[in-house]
Amino acid sequence: MCGIVGYLGHREAYPIVIEGLKRLEYRGYDSAGIALFDGENLKVSKTKGKVADLEALSEKEITKSGNIGIGHTRWATHGVPNDVNSHPHVSNSGELVIIHNGIIENYESLKQELISRGYVFHSDTDTEVLVNLIEDVKKQENIKLGKAVQIALNQVIGAYAIAVFDKTKPEEIVIARLGSPLAVGIGENEFFIASDASPFLEYTKNAIYLEDEEMAIIRFHKPIKVRKIKDDSLVAPYIQELQLNLEQIEKGGYEHFMLKEIHEQPKAITDTYRGRLLRNEAIIKMAGIEDNMKKFLNANRIIIVACGTSWHAGLVAEYIFEDLARIPVEVEYASEFRYRNPVITENDILIAISQSGETADTLAAIKLAKSKGAFVFGVCNVVGSSIARETHAGAYTHAGPEIGVASTKAFTTQITVLTLIALRLSRAKGTISSSDFRTHLLELEMIPKKVEKALESDSHIKMIADIYKDAPNCLYLGRGYNFPVALEGALKLKEISYIHAEGYPAAEMKHGPIALIDENMPIIVIATKKGHYEKVVSNIQEIKSRKGKIIGIVTEGDVDVRKLADHIIEVPDTLESLSPLLTTIPLQLLSYHIAVLLGKNVDQPRNLAKSVTVE
Ligand code: G6P
Repeated sequence: MCGIVGYLGHREAYPIVIEGLKRLEYRGYDSAGIALFDGENLKVSKTKGKVADLEALSEKEITKSGNIGIGHTRWATHGVPNDVNSHPHVSNSGELVIIHNGIIENYESLKQELISRGYVFHSDTDTEVLVNLIEDVKKQENIKLGKAVQIALNQVIGAYAIAVFDKTKPEEIVIARLGSPLAVGIGENEFFIASDASPFLEYTKNAIYLEDEEMAIIRFHKPIKVRKIKDDSLVAPYIQELQLNLEQIEKGGYEHFMLKEIHEQPKAITDTYRGRLLRNEAIIKMAGIEDNMKKFLNANRIIIVACGTSWHAGLVAEYIFEDLARIPVEVEYASEFRYRNPVITENDILIAISQSGETADTLAAIKLAKSKGAFVFGVCNVVGSSIARETHAGAYTHAGPEIGVASTKAFTTQITVLTLIALRLSRAKGTISSSDFRTHLLELEMIPKKVEKALESDSHIKMIADIYKDAPNCLYLGRGYNFPVALEGALKLKEISYIHAEGYPAAEMKHGPIALIDENMPIIVIATKKGHYEKVVSNIQEIKSRKGKIIGIVTEGDVDVRKLADHIIEVPDTLESLSPLLTTIPLQLLSYHIAVLLGKNVDQPRNLAKSVTVE
């Protein structure tokens, strides 16, 4: 978490760093800061709050000129979000300034050591410890900044992406990475540093992504030098051409990124199956699967690991894989899996699902499974992300950048990729007939149009949102394929409106949540025709008898639920296995409208971050 930006070159650094921070705010937004060297002085400005607050403060505090600058937008780990704990942090001598994304786990012992040598600390952060450690090493050994950073980092346990410069040598920035992403944009006599490439897209399409345990020294008018932190060996930097464009990371006329991303789903799902689903030839082509088909066919089981919304996509995949491909599946929270000594064998396949490809717990689960000999397959959205690189093979979702913190198109495109994989495997295993296979391909191809249809209920959903926006609690029920959708619907509401919501399997309601139901409780029930319709209708009867308010998500033309529910929202008919791709849509819109009506910050909900690179 946290976003970092830096610039070194011939332009004014201030606007580049500030605009870059705005693009990285999805990574954290509880405080922000900037450091610039104006040719004579180091100017540091930082504040609790958003980048806009920093901008307002900089108007008063900072001389906005200088060709070297670093900035930070924070998601607090060590120390509450306040002005003092905000980054950048300056060393005791006032010479070194640093920004940091990650956690230094052994910061306390390092801090005590530094205190015993006379260092004074002003903040509660691990980062202030790191900058003083670098200073201490530099002074003790009388060495250059790059070497001091390297020696200091070899004493550190934890995760970091850092950028640090020395005001007495303001033509150089030293950066390093372990566990948190860091990209360098290479322009003509200028360098851009950022947690992802979005801050420098309009300046250059050439970028280097540092690998874990690498550091780089960036100098004015010199080629970038990349080294291994451990043994100092030089690494030939791999410069890649970025495929991203600016339009993809702008709101494009929508009020919020979340709304834009909800509406992008027809296109995103099409992009996900394009070139993979070949209906006329009745085949699915996915290189990552074809190249490893033997492994998939011989697998004892598939273990899916993920966090948050991606975990919900994993739960949907469990139904699809078991139903269609007859492969046993376990779905685990990555954070639990990694710490519970799981039984993993060489015949297991681990599928890691992650939008960002940077989630620390998911990465750790991958490393654990690899160490036990399992084959690891990644389903990521961000191309070139850490998880994409750490896995043996994988499939990208091709959803395009997702910026709203509440995940929407990432979820439906993850389900699309996982459905393609399950279908491909079921064909190879012979667990699906050729006519069923063709039906699935045809139906999947029709999903984008049906999502468009589902999106047409927007104003009806807004009206429902207005009725229930003040409810303190909300229950989401679904069965089978739509149970994970109920979980996801509840998560969306919690994330952006701060209303307490729970997702439950519809039949399980009578073992507890039913006690919560009264005439004030809105209950969203997914009751589409295929699946366990009659059973869900009985569950709705049970709610009705306890006077709960029912919002039914139903198939177009539904009769039975319409009679019982207070409101219905229709989605087009499809196969049961594909229904999550449609039933999710009204739940996303419902949460969105409730949050907007309540005046919440939809794209940047409190306490959350889009990319969780700490465990
Ligand atoms: C954070 C985000 C969620 C996301 C989860 C997993 O909590 O706020 O939206 O689902 O991380 O992220 P990943 O990038 O691994 O899918």
